Amino acid sequence: PPYSIGVICGSIAASSINRRLANAMMKLAPEDLQCSYIEIDKLGLYNHDLDGDYPPEAQELKRQIESSDGILIVTPEYNRSIPGALKNAIDWASRPWGTNSLARKPVGIAGASPGGIGTAVGQQHLKAIMSFCNAPLMNEIEAYITFKEEDFDDDDNCTNESTKGFLQSYMNAYDDFVRRVLTVVPQQR
Ligand code: FNR
Repeated sequence: PPYSIGVICGSIAASSINRRLANAMMKLAPEDLQCSYIEIDKLGLYNHDLDGDYPPEAQELKRQIESSDGILIVTPEYNRSIPGALKNAIDWASRPWGTNSLARKPVGIAGASPGGIGTAVGQQHLKAIMSFCNAPLMNEIEAYITFKEEDFDDDDNCTNESTKGFLQSYMNAYDDFVRRVLTVVPQQR
């Protein structure tokens, strides 16, 4: 430690509730997690014709993931799966073949929806995808958040003590998970 954590928000909307949740989680991260966003909104659609000449945005995405010790994904559920923008970013990061940037990166997954399902179904899809990408997944705590406007202030601090405590436990567990994975499986290229 400290560990650098790349945070990917699965929504590219400026008004995203998942961005607000991610902001709140980043504020609650223990000190040895240095969290910063990896943005996915400038990527074109993945196309394997470009594997020999990767666009600069996609090279930058791979560089940011590779230089992170862990990846935290905070994403909405779209049509009971993950948003296309997030899948597109994962596809770019996983290629060209043999250079999968996500391999062995300890991944935490969280998400918020306005309804009670709290992205649970979408997260199952994401876990399957990330497993195939050979990313160890934290299973200790699952974060399915029903987003309530009154639980967050204008600076995206979580103001609901119960939810705040839960998000804090999540970040602490993720910190332990990153440390464990990096101890057992040191990152190597
Ligand atoms: C949704 N929404 C949604 N919610 C949910 O709980 N399960 C779902 O399957 C879907 N499907 C879905 C598809 C599409 C195309 C949209 C635009 C929305 C509602 C969704 O949770 C809500 O719009 C959130 O505000 C999206 O998250 P962000 O973008 O605000 O972070």
